[in-house]
Amino acid sequence: MRDYIRLWSTFVPEDTGASIMEVISYGWLNTGEKELLLRQELSKKFNFPHCVATNNGTAALRTTFAALGVGPGDEVVSTPYTFIATNTSILEQGATPVFADIDYDTFNIDPESIDSKITKKTKAIVGVHYGGTPFDLDAVREIGRSHNLPVVEDAAHSWGSKYKGNYIGSTGHVVCFSLQAIKILTTADGGIISTSNEELYENLQQYVWYGVDREQRDPSSIDPMPDQIDKLGFKYNMNDVAAAMGLAGLRHVDEALGRRKEIGEEYRRELSNCSRVTLVQYPDNVVPNYQIFPIHVADRPQFARHMEGLGIQVRVNNRRNDRYSIFGGLRDLPSTKRADDDAILIPIHADLTESEVQRIVDGVNQYDKL
Ligand SMILES: Cc1ncc(COP(=O)(O)O)c(C=O)c1O
Repeated sequence: MRDYIRLWSTFVPEDTGASIMEVISYGWLNTGEKELLLRQELSKKFNFPHCVATNNGTAALRTTFAALGVGPGDEVVSTPYTFIATNTSILEQGATPVFADIDYDTFNIDPESIDSKITKKTKAIVGVHYGGTPFDLDAVREIGRSHNLPVVEDAAHSWGSKYKGNYIGSTGHVVCFSLQAIKILTTADGGIISTSNEELYENLQQYVWYGVDREQRDPSSIDPMPDQIDKLGFKYNMNDVAAAMGLAGLRHVDEALGRRKEIGEEYRRELSNCSRVTLVQYPDNVVPNYQIFPIHVADRPQFARHMEGLGIQVRVNNRRNDRYSIFGGLRDLPSTKRADDDAILIPIHADLTESEVQRIVDGVNQYDKL
């Protein structure tokens, strides 16, 4: 029995090595057939209308903001309760994140807080499906429509989550995923952008590689580059080694999702009557993927001491982003403040054994009675 239960694990199926070796033996490591195949297979599995691959999720976000024309002087209405990448990618474009408040029960952007943040400078709205819990897409899309603003979904946590029966990424204007090491689907580092808009797709394909769509080049020509490059793009393309790893993960993604669902549902059954611990309130129309399991606790330092004392790793996942001076200082956001003060993660991943899950449940229930 492992003594210390870790918060995270990586999900790398056994056939990943063979998948990567095939690429190495073939000798084409750069963006190529595997990258294309990964995009095709992801589109099949999750019903993505168009799909672009990047070398990480932060790059997917930045590429998206660039392709939407977000630049210096512009504002993007965003959520402060997220990993900083959601908002640093806005800063990287020279624009400013303007923070709406969140819904305490889900950690997601609160649609009611968005309207008053929109100004003449607003270029887009971005929400995060925090922890794999889809945000209120109907409400946020309606706000976007009424102000003629695109809605960007940061779905870094949301492989396999569903909103109204549809996979995240299968609907919506533009949706950015992460394939970073601890995600349910991983390429060690990688990103995916799904979009329903063909023109945006073509634009994104150019931005991920120096402003040139690699698929439009003529590899049989002695001079395959286009005559002209008229947009300044990035070097954010995904290579075939990463794509091969992603393809192996994708073959097993339902196993990873299934195990997390079992554990997540067990936590919800066993911990729903606690009085010092509050669980995420999932809306009826979503299916979460349990990428992480955040909870609200009455006394976070005491909870952390108690769980770590039992050999169970717990961590504060994210702090409200406006506490960091790069974002311009603290705003008045009451629900964000509450969540920032009391949220913590307990372990959830496909490697947890049944007895470890039981130890975690018992540990939380013991804390509840302290
Ligand atoms: C909400 C959110 N957005 C964006 C990212 C950035 O993804 P990546 O690490 O692949 O760059 C992360 C990373 O975990 C994240 O949690």
